[in-house]
Amino acid sequence: MLTKAELHVHLEGTAPPELVSRIAARNGLELPRQMLSSDGRFHYTDFLHFLRTYDLAASVIRTGEDYRDITYEYLCSCADGGAIYVELTASPDHAALVGMSDEEHWDGIARGIDDARRDTGIEGRILVSAVRNFGVEQALRVARHAAERPHPYVVGFSMAGDEAGFPAQDFAEVYLVAAEAGLGCTIHAGEWAGADSVRAALELPVTRISHGVRSIEDPAVVSELAARGIVLECCPTSNVVLGVYDSYEEHPLPALRDAGVRVTLGSDDPPYFGASIEGEYGICSARFGWGEDELREITRTAIEAAFCDEELKAGLRKLV
Ligand code: ADE
Ligand code: ZN
Repeated sequence: MLTKAELHVHLEGTAPPELVSRIAARNGLELPRQMLSSDGRFHYTDFLHFLRTYDLAASVIRTGEDYRDITYEYLCSCADGGAIYVELTASPDHAALVGMSDEEHWDGIARGIDDARRDTGIEGRILVSAVRNFGVEQALRVARHAAERPHPYVVGFSMAGDEAGFPAQDFAEVYLVAAEAGLGCTIHAGEWAGADSVRAALELPVTRISHGVRSIEDPAVVSELAARGIVLECCPTSNVVLGVYDSYEEHPLPALRDAGVRVTLGSDDPPYFGASIEGEYGICSARFGWGEDELREITRTAIEAAFCDEELKAGLRKLV
């Protein structure tokens, strides 16, 4: 099977309804009403509604053990699909909202990574992510905690949430804190705002952009991405399901790649979108006509752009 690697997936967003329900039950909590539709799937009508549903699901995740199980189950499913490495974007803001310390949060995820490695051989690392619509002060808290208390598996910093309402330039200090602590940096941009949002993100100390696909709206931004070797973590299924693009055929991933931009794949929030990392590779094959060479290149790019250390990268390269 072709080896795969994933750099863009939100950990709380990997838990399917069945797992969220199991976790709620063992924590003695009712499932939040409005979280699921009558067919048992996560319910949302647009992007901002999706973010609120995500918050509802995250609100029943209460313990390090919950995070262990979510991590373990997700990584095992990725390994089944041929993945050898996954960077999990975790949200200390969501953990803090339910009273969990960053240490319990990270240690729970780390146990999930260790257990999944033991059982399948897959490797994982953690990116901490601030939610931009929680504001700059809160984002600074997330970055400072990660900077002040290094954890061997926390290798990067990201920002998710409402890109259009909370522009990248407001978070310059946050990114300085993260970058100076040696964390690899990425940020959601060019998903719910256009190429100017990517241009602003490129002023931050980032080597990757989460999504970034709407760069295609400005050839100068595309040229800058290509010239600087910035890697886009593309999630075509997320973009089509949430309505950034009406169809895979309209998705700019092939055009960006043809323009010399380095691209990788991610499932973003798999059960919300009916996505998986294996599925995203399959989409590129079925919809964009990519063969094994192109897909292997995606995996190689992901390994080069990963925020883990060189020793781990060297081991991963041998598996591709
Ligand atoms: N949080 C979870 N998924 C997200 C996405 N696709 N964009 C922004 N924030 C998110
Ligand atoms: Zn995302």
